[in-house]
Amino acid sequence: MYNHRLLTRRHALWLGLATVAGMSACAKGKSIKQDQQVQVVGKSERDFTVTGETSLKERAAAKGLIYGASGRYRDLSSNSDLADHYTQECAILVPGNDLKWSTLRPSPDRFDFTKGDWLANFAHTHGMLFRGHTLVWNQGLPKWFQETVNKQNAEHILVEHIQKVARHYAGQMHSWDVVNEAVYPKHQRSDSLRRSPWLKFLGSDYIDLAFRAAAEADPQTILVYNDVRMNTDTEDGEATRIAILKLLERLKSRGTPVHALGMQAHLWAKDQAPLNPRKIRAFVGDVADLGLKIMVTELDVKDQHLPKDTNVRDRIVAGAYEDYLSAVLDEPAVISVITWGLSDPYSWRAKPQFGGDRKDGTPVRPLPLDAQMKRKLAWNAIARALDNAPKR
Ligand code: XIL
Repeated sequence: MYNHRLLTRRHALWLGLATVAGMSACAKGKSIKQDQQVQVVGKSERDFTVTGETSLKERAAAKGLIYGASGRYRDLSSNSDLADHYTQECAILVPGNDLKWSTLRPSPDRFDFTKGDWLANFAHTHGMLFRGHTLVWNQGLPKWFQETVNKQNAEHILVEHIQKVARHYAGQMHSWDVVNEAVYPKHQRSDSLRRSPWLKFLGSDYIDLAFRAAAEADPQTILVYNDVRMNTDTEDGEATRIAILKLLERLKSRGTPVHALGMQAHLWAKDQAPLNPRKIRAFVGDVADLGLKIMVTELDVKDQHLPKDTNVRDRIVAGAYEDYLSAVLDEPAVISVITWGLSDPYSWRAKPQFGGDRKDGTPVRPLPLDAQMKRKLAWNAIARALDNAPKR
């Protein structure tokens, strides 16, 4: 299906590039117990001790993994302290917003790569890998989209976008989120696909079309199907896991060039979104059985409804991080852990519409570093999960 040279390069991306941050010997990883249920978190007895001061990227590299974070042009270009912490902790950088259609396409016939190029250059200058997010999504679309795109021109506009953007960064991208959030069981289609504009104009084949166009434009990158809502132990979580597996199976059976599943992992540290490590472990195993790699692409923990007390809150958030990562990293096909941001005030969760409107008015704390760039218990939790992960 793919030629040998490309497969070799892709294997290098999976395996070799995780040595970017340098390797140090670490204790042999422990596997999680399959039946382990989520521990009661927030209790003071849970231990989040970490050995040593080594960065997350080095701990990950010691296990053949890649750790990194998303970042925005506007934050990294204006705050050198923040930028320094990215270079210290991260081996991979992903633009949180700056490669979305709304940023890249100010008008139907103009592409603006200024912010994306700045971030690509920042990553390159500091020896970090760079990854793309996202070529096809139902959100993040420019204002002109609605009045311009229709059934007649949708295929042309989609393929042209992928060709232009993926070619622009060809050779620079570790991986691309080609299609984002195509599954949504609540829309009640038999294939559980989301009723997105792309589906409306092009039918379910838009997904195959996008992957084929991306493979042609950048034959050397890892092509990722990225989605959300697959982690919770709820009816919707279960339906989402089943639908994603079905979609991936369908893509593989048609020879559509998809190489990895991206698990966003926007976790909610509250009762309505419980985690079940056993089910998550089984799911990543099923994905790996399809011959796919797995990337944790957008990890964070929403603390909107958690207690005001910072110590209590940080323990609950850290517990969610460690429970989730211990389950996922037990699967050797998982190649990366990427958090959606690095330092709390720059998180999307700080915006009122995404959970920033805490009733007590205190700022959110969903990420590994606090507002002063100090490592929090969430950082410890990630470090512990990496230290305990089996080596790839
Ligand atoms: C979010 C950004 O972080 C926000 O700044 C923006 O306002 C909305 O999008 N899933 C995704 C990401 O795939 O692109 C989203 O990023 C978060 C949810």
